[in-house]
Parts: sequence; C-alpha cells; structure tokens
Amino acid sequence: MSTMKAEWQTDWDVASPPEIGYVSVRADEGAWVDGAWPQFEYRDLGLTDVSDGKLGGRHIRSKPAGPRGETGWHCHHLDFEFLFVLSGSITIEGETGETYRLGPGAAGHQPALFWHNESDASDDFECVQITVPGEPATITDRDAELPAREVAAAPIYTFDTPENYVLGAGPRRFFRYRDLGSRALTDGRIHIHVVRASEPGAGTGWHYHSMAQWFMILDGWSVIRVETMPKHDLRTLDSMCVGRGPEMRHNVAPFSGDYAVLELCIPAEYETIAVAPPEGADAPPEGAQE
Ligand SMILES: [Fe+2]
Ligand SMILES: [Fe+2]
Repeated sequence: MSTMKAEWQTDWDVASPPEIGYVSVRADEGAWVDGAWPQFEYRDLGLTDVSDGKLGGRHIRSKPAGPRGETGWHCHHLDFEFLFVLSGSITIEGETGETYRLGPGAAGHQPALFWHNESDASDDFECVQITVPGEPATITDRDAELPAREVAAAPIYTFDTPENYVLGAGPRRFFRYRDLGSRALTDGRIHIHVVRASEPGAGTGWHYHSMAQWFMILDGWSVIRVETMPKHDLRTLDSMCVGRGPEMRHNVAPFSGDYAVLELCIPAEYETIAVAPPEGADAPPEGAQE
C-alpha cells in the first residue's frame, strides 16, 4: 500500500512543535458563518488564533436552508486534513474511484492535493475538521497547475466499532482509546484518538502533559479545572485547548460513565505528569483514580 506520508510544508515538526495556547469554545459559543460551500455553515473553534495560524479547527454542519447538492471536485493545498463526523452522514468520492458514506464516529484523513467531491450531506450532518495550516487553500479548477509538492496517494478512513477501542491504550488505564491513525501520517507530529469512559469516575487527579491537547466532548459530561482558569462544566460539543507544560496543570474530576472526547495531541508522543493540586485548588475528589 502506498504511504500517505508526504512532504510537510508548514514549519513545525516533532522537535519544534507549535506553541498552542488555552482556548475554550462552548457548544453555544462562536458564530455560525458562511464558508467554502453553500451547503454548509462553519463555527471556528479558536485553534487558529491560539496557534499563530499553524493549526485550525472548525465545526461544520448542513445549513438549515442550504442546498444539498455536491460540492463539486476540489482539493486542498495543506499538510494535514482530518474529518470526524459528529452526526448525520455525508458521501465523499475520491479521485481514485472509491466512494465512502461516512456516518457518526467515522474519521478520515485526506491527503494534500487529493481531488474529492462531497455530496448528499444529511440535514443533521455535523463534523469537525482539523487542518494544518489553520486556513488552507482550496483549489476547484481541475485544469489548474497544482503546487509542486510530494503528495500521498489515498485517504484513510476509520469507523466507530467496539473492536477499534483498546482499554488503557493511553494515559489512563480506566479509559478506552480509539487511535484514529494520525501519528504515522504526520511523522509523529499529531495524534488523534477518541477516549471513552466505561463507568463514572471521580477524576484524573491534577496533572499536566508534555503535549498540547485540543478536545471536544462527544458524549456525557465532565468537570475540568485548568490551573488559573474558571472551572468548566463540559457538555457535548463543548471544546477546549490546553497547552503543554506545568503552567497548564489540570484536573478532570468528575466525569460521567458515558463520557467520551475526541482528543488531538501535539506532538503524538507525550508524557503525563501527576502533580500536587496547585495552591488554592479544590481538594482532589474522594477516590480519584490514577
Ligand atoms: Fe474538501
Ligand atoms: Fe490531561
């Protein structure tokens, strides 16, 4: 099988990851605006602002009164494009002939300059798109001369099936993790997984990571405290970005039994360091798990 790894043009790698700051965008925050396609509307998730444009995240959904036809063939000039379907479904046809119908929990990586056509988005279609850089260019003219760059041959899609989850395959032995396959495609720059609880938890305890993480709640709820920030009660489709290092100590406590998050980690390889509660922080909850 051909590799999807390709030349990366944005100026960061594992050794010098971008500085990514804190941002919280609740499900009901941010404006829905028109964007690339009349079928959809777009809500910015704040990543471009806090990463100096090196990374972008947007929530996309079918526009209530928008057209439902195809986007037409197009490709993107970028280093990384990731899609995760939150609800509803959409069809994506690729230049190599495969057609995928993507439903809730389906995740896809589209290579740079890969021609594709999106169609038949359901009225309830919603997805998250993560890109590098934050604002990639879209090319719609198939006769246009494309930027000279090495590109990969095919997209990769993964689906939300129980066997794609592995208990303890991440920092917490009590969470189930579904690896969405970004690590190998990005030479270790980016890891994306779905993290699911199996039962209600008292909490993770205070800790920080050597990576920056962005996450969106997919199911259930949690309460998170990030160092000096206000306490957040997070619900479905709330999102947050927490930078790397000890200034971004945080504690997820408690969380619901059906808690699930889509989480992006930069870089892919990271450490999780348990720490004492910061001065003035709430005491750890009774029975906090390690
Ligand atoms: Fe596209
Ligand atoms: Fe954490």
